[in-house]
Amino acid sequence: MHNTKVTVSEIHMKDFCGELLVFYVAQKEDGSIDSDNHTAPLVKVLTQYNDFCAKENDTVVLYPQEFKKLSKIGAKRVLMIGLGKKSSYPDVASKLEMFRSAGGTISKVCAKYKISELVIWNGTALGLKHAEVVQSLTEGIVLGDYQFNKYKAEDKENPAFKGIKKITFSVSENVAAIRKSAKRGSRLALAACAARDMANEPGNYWTAAEFAEYAKKMAETHPVTCSIIDKAQMKKLGMGGLLAVNQGSAAPPKLVVLDYSPEKSNGTILLVGKGLTFDSGGISIKPSAGMQDMKYDMCGGAAVISAMQAIAEDKPDARVVALIPATDNMSGSSALKPGDVIRHFNGVTAEIVNTDAEGRLILADALAYGVKQYKPDCIVDVATLTGAVILGLGHHHSGILSNNDALAKDLIEAGKKCAEPLWRLPLGKEYSKQIESDVADIKNAGGRPAGTITAAAYLEKFIDDVPWAHLDIAGTAWGFTEKTYIPKGPSGIAVRTLVEFVRKRAKITNK
Ligand code: BES
Ligand code: MN
Ligand code: ZN
Repeated sequence: MHNTKVTVSEIHMKDFCGELLVFYVAQKEDGSIDSDNHTAPLVKVLTQYNDFCAKENDTVVLYPQEFKKLSKIGAKRVLMIGLGKKSSYPDVASKLEMFRSAGGTISKVCAKYKISELVIWNGTALGLKHAEVVQSLTEGIVLGDYQFNKYKAEDKENPAFKGIKKITFSVSENVAAIRKSAKRGSRLALAACAARDMANEPGNYWTAAEFAEYAKKMAETHPVTCSIIDKAQMKKLGMGGLLAVNQGSAAPPKLVVLDYSPEKSNGTILLVGKGLTFDSGGISIKPSAGMQDMKYDMCGGAAVISAMQAIAEDKPDARVVALIPATDNMSGSSALKPGDVIRHFNGVTAEIVNTDAEGRLILADALAYGVKQYKPDCIVDVATLTGAVILGLGHHHSGILSNNDALAKDLIEAGKKCAEPLWRLPLGKEYSKQIESDVADIKNAGGRPAGTITAAAYLEKFIDDVPWAHLDIAGTAWGFTEKTYIPKGPSGIAVRTLVEFVRKRAKITNK
């Protein structure tokens, strides 16, 4: 699966005799189609029939061999896809998103006609650089081409579409730069697809051990080192949070460590992802309706591992260390109980008032360990941490909470560029007060008000004043805003944003 090859070449229209040639075209301000000398003959016909107006994601498929006058086109089919009016895109981010969206639409057309190879003709860039257009289209096509049918029987009569095998961008100048952009687009999209794959795996097939195996395999083919902290080492290190959450489970916990250390480095970035492979709630058990979705409680961990994969391919000049605390949250006979007191890696003790507030317990140990071990310049953690973030922001923004304005700003900008928007919520001592305990240093839940903030206030006790940002992706990790390139299930959110953020921190301009 996910083996789409993306190439950039100077192929001419006439020489491509394959299944599909794609033209993307915008509308002029008066609503008419903005054609060039390649598309004009087609546009003339389409306007006569009123079949295509080039509005956003408007499509029409044509069969040029049937038109004598169109003999310049060798392909069996032509797909025209609309981009709407340039004036409706106020900024770079919205233009990039239009091309991603068009990419998603292209992938849907390919699935409908079972087209595995296509050429995309260079059209209007809506004011972007052509390289940016190619990156966004590639992201959209590869993300939109995603399928997960591993556990389904093959329908022999009507075999499923096996996905797009080859995308070629036909360009006549800047070939080298555009090739890099195409590579970046596919690298980002394939990493996000890898995160979706992990999330789609059911809880019985994706345990902490699978997280560890995946990371080890990835490290064999990428310039990163992988080590796994197992249960015995956790006991020695005093990782009381991760061990406590794991107490009710039959499957041992793992702390996955991935380290990308280039020779030239502009500082160390620590990424931490919640790898909770199934969240039953533990003794404070969740209601059964919808509980199956709690297999997705590992999406933060999946995003971080997948981002590391893309980062190792991107090779930025910054050390990036990723930690993924992984376990499920079950209610076996030795499970953690409300009222228990645990001790974290940094010595902070916590009273457990709700065993369903487990994400913060496993993240706390990873954060404190990462701070001590790697002395990072900044920390970003990603977690499906609270239902409360869904009440506040729905499925369209992830929450961001941070002790550092510059870091928050960089992440919000990266998120905007990738169309993975972040909305900042405050921190503060009033909220920290909600997690004060009578018996321990803190307690693990602060009541109903501001649930997303009190969860972050818990994490804040473990970062030692290092610039830190917490992304709460509970509302966006699956069921994210409907888009042509976002499927119904897991979205792969945060992968592209993290890679973009690291790139910026490492001051990469073009690679
Ligand atoms: N994994 C859940 C958060 C969640 C809920 C993610 C719904 C996605 C969809 C987390 O472990 C949790 O259960 N949080 C509790 C915290 C509460 C007990 C303080 C919550 O949000 O209800
Ligand atoms: Mn929970
Ligand atoms: Zn959880």
